[in-house]
Amino acid sequence: MDAAAPAQSDTIVAGRTGALEGEVQIAGAKNSVLKLMAACLLAEGRHSLANVPDISDVSLMCELLEAMGVTVTRTDHRLAIDVPAELNTSAPYHLVERMRASIVVLGPLLARFGEARVALPGGDDFGPRPIDMHLRALESLGATFSTAHGDISGTAGVLSGAEIVLEYPSVGATENVLMAAVRAKGRTLIVNPAREPEIGDLMNFLNQMGAQVGWAGDRLAIDGVEHMSPVRSDDGYRVIADRIEAATFLAAVGMCGGSVLLRGAVADHMTMLTRKLTEMGLHIVEDAAGVRATAGGRLSSADVSTLPYPGLATDCKPFLVTMLTTASGVGIVTENIFMGRFRYIDELRRMGADIRTEGHHAVVRGAERLSGAPVRAPDIRAGAALVVAGLAADGETEVADAAHIDRGYEDLVGKLAGLGAAISRH
Ligand code: EPU
Repeated sequence: MDAAAPAQSDTIVAGRTGALEGEVQIAGAKNSVLKLMAACLLAEGRHSLANVPDISDVSLMCELLEAMGVTVTRTDHRLAIDVPAELNTSAPYHLVERMRASIVVLGPLLARFGEARVALPGGDDFGPRPIDMHLRALESLGATFSTAHGDISGTAGVLSGAEIVLEYPSVGATENVLMAAVRAKGRTLIVNPAREPEIGDLMNFLNQMGAQVGWAGDRLAIDGVEHMSPVRSDDGYRVIADRIEAATFLAAVGMCGGSVLLRGAVADHMTMLTRKLTEMGLHIVEDAAGVRATAGGRLSSADVSTLPYPGLATDCKPFLVTMLTTASGVGIVTENIFMGRFRYIDELRRMGADIRTEGHHAVVRGAERLSGAPVRAPDIRAGAALVVAGLAADGETEVADAAHIDRGYEDLVGKLAGLGAAISRH
């Protein structure tokens, strides 16, 4: 891997901004590229990925693969991933702890090597995040697990296809099963799988590596194959656009007004969000180059409820809450995915937002103005939402712990500044 970029300072300062204008390139999806990198473990040889976002979670996944004996070369939005015949099949705590998505190496390692040891991820700012569904599903394919010293060790002789019923359409569990079942003997059916666009990207990638994965009605059907190889493509497999980064810019336009082209954004991946934002007063049109958002004047409130895809993504909720803080009227927000995902609301209150929370509901009464204040980014999306809030607040908003934002955003400050935002990093 190339030398890491110099550490960025940890505070973003956002000031009140007028209408945003221009265009912004939407990066490759964080929640896709991390899984595609794990999927490379399924086949020996040189894999090549394009449209790779320059974010710190990708650096962490590079570190994890390298700790296993993989060689990763990172150049301008591309990764060359050389997977050797033999690997160290352990994912150590110091890396898993920094990025829960590391758990997706479990499926491919079990499928290819019949063994894997992955440190158990702890809880985080969203509350407890168990992996019970991942383990039960992999057990149905024939894997057995034991835990000791904070690690989970899995072994599998030959994995065999099975019908797996997910009680909830977990994104990570669906991905782990997909990446294990592609090399199992026979057919696996996943009942109630996650259907996020990033799952579709993983299916395409696996199929181009030689897997046989497809939809059988509303189930995922995987016919195991004996051999997989790196995707043959001169340009590398192109990661889909990041719909949550796109949502971030839609929110910024909603808060500041103006007209911005989100180059590369895929409208089909954001249908529920764009419907909700249209209800609130944004004008959003699909364009051959991406998605164009236009707004002016005060937004109207709306009720919001997060659900698995194609419902409204939980990752978009901090942006919707932020927009509601200055919209006219009252909006009720219900979180159905991560019960603890309301921590940033205390930070928005410090900026003058009128928000009451009760269990997994928040009631947001729009104020005329927010008032800039020092706040702290609790996680990637909430951090970005606080930056967006700062653009619509009087005075300056200092968002500390901005390193959280770097985990999922490539140059958020530069991109917003390019649209005319009063923003800098200190
Ligand atoms: N869950 C369980 N048991 C399991 C797995 C999940 O109870 O074995 C619960 C979780 O605790 C949570 C719910 O099921 O309450 C949803 O979890 P899911 O497995 O679907 O989420 P994930 O795979 O851990 C991914 C994204 C998240 C995104 C969620 C929901 C990645 C790396 N992460 O997480 O994105 O919020 O799906 O769409 O793909 C982010 O990008 O900042 C982020 C957190």
